[in-house]
Amino acid sequence: MSPYPVCHSHQTDPPRLAFIGLDTCYPRADGRATRRHYLDSAASTLALRCARQVTDELLRHYANTHSELHFSARIASHAHDWAHGQALKFIRADPDRYTGFFAGSGCTAPLNRLARVLTARRPERDVVLISLLEHHANDLPHRKHAKTVVHIPLTGRAPGLGAINLGVLQQLLDQYRGRVNYIAVSAASNVTGIINPVHDVAELAHAHGAWVIVDASQFLAHAPLPVSDTGTVERELDAVVFSGHKLYAPGSPGAAVVRRALLDACEPDEVGGGMVEDVSLSGYQVTARFPDREEAGTPNILGAVQLGAALNVLQRIGMEQIHTAEQQQLRSLLARLAAIPGVRIYGNPDIERTPRLGVVSFNLAGLEHGLVAAVLNDYHNVAVRNGCFCAHPYVRELLKPELWALEFDPDAGDAEALIQPWRGMVRASLGLYTTDEDIEALLAGIRDLLARPDHYRALYQADTEGNFHHRTFLAPAEALFDPEAALDRALAGSRTSDDVFVL
Ligand SMILES: Cc1ncc(COP(=O)(O)O)c(C=O)c1O
Repeated sequence: MSPYPVCHSHQTDPPRLAFIGLDTCYPRADGRATRRHYLDSAASTLALRCARQVTDELLRHYANTHSELHFSARIASHAHDWAHGQALKFIRADPDRYTGFFAGSGCTAPLNRLARVLTARRPERDVVLISLLEHHANDLPHRKHAKTVVHIPLTGRAPGLGAINLGVLQQLLDQYRGRVNYIAVSAASNVTGIINPVHDVAELAHAHGAWVIVDASQFLAHAPLPVSDTGTVERELDAVVFSGHKLYAPGSPGAAVVRRALLDACEPDEVGGGMVEDVSLSGYQVTARFPDREEAGTPNILGAVQLGAALNVLQRIGMEQIHTAEQQQLRSLLARLAAIPGVRIYGNPDIERTPRLGVVSFNLAGLEHGLVAAVLNDYHNVAVRNGCFCAHPYVRELLKPELWALEFDPDAGDAEALIQPWRGMVRASLGLYTTDEDIEALLAGIRDLLARPDHYRALYQADTEGNFHHRTFLAPAEALFDPEAALDRALAGSRTSDDVFVL
């Protein structure tokens, strides 16, 4: 049972129905059809039903923003402004000094934007520091735009690596004195859930005149993150970016909350409609208004409002309460996983000394991650993710001892094909709706696999990419969900449940 207050319109609904898709059933390879166990929230969370309902209601008034004249435009502009306000409020950012803007479909867009803008803003500061545990979205944009990117190492040893090493960060800031433009660091890893001490990073950075960008996309759904933990400017984060689809609002944009001073001295990176005061054939004048100047073009109004509603609900529940409940579930998951012989957990599992959120990556002895994920899905209806989770340098680092033991050199380029099946992990991640039953299903699947590895291996065939395919059980996407058939049903006005697969 979910430990959280209920967000739904009918008091008789069980709490888990506050999210769309928890009752979705799929047929399994053993011939049964069961409810899915969704343990892939680190990739995308399921939709919060009441946030979706807000946008359904807004659709009755739908119009473009950037006008106050007719009723609907006024309503759309107001709702869109409200969504910006929710983003600022969620991380307790002062609206007079920070702006919140939306871009793209996840935090990748604002991260690219910030890399471009901040690099152009201070070209004389040619170094960017990022941590070794970054998602590619908070690594590649900086590599592309900054002259030099240095990866800050982590504490501990693989496979028990910890958070960013603040001692080495201090050394790097000294070594590159006067040259570090900004530090870009995740608040929590999407591979291990390990939390970085971002306010400590900010304090060190500011002492050297560097800014701090925090990728909070993996963090914000799980725990409170104020822009400053002490209320002092020294420990204040300069920019916080996140993805709405990881905050129970699929279809919503990426978001950035940025100190205005970083943006107001330069022309916005993107230009177009809605962000200018005047345009003539010889020139144009960009508005000084935030966030308008950062949002050229028609915004994703519905997505932004859906995200605003989700953020509002999370605040009503209380992020502290969410965090406490998740930590309890996480502790139990880690302890029960660690008690199964043959399970290897990545990242320092000592949660008291190395805090982490509800994301756990692991491997099973002698079994390829692709095979594990396929069997968990096909025979247990447990949805986990496997591979390197768009964090190749970090996963490679975590796996080094194992790859060396297999006599692979993980740093050799030509070893890639050989190590492919072994270069990766299985990731289970928690959300507000995760139940003990979901975790039980995962553990049962793992025990089953470890008890009969040869049985399962014989049922599957690996492709060259390391994906495992069942030899006889096929469940193609179009047989499970056909958009055109859904459209036919919608056109026929038939009322069918949208989250139950009918065999
Ligand atoms: C820590 C982290 N940063 C960045 C991203 C990229 O987010 P998006 O794909 O929503 O732009 C992800 C997505 O998994 C992530 O987990």
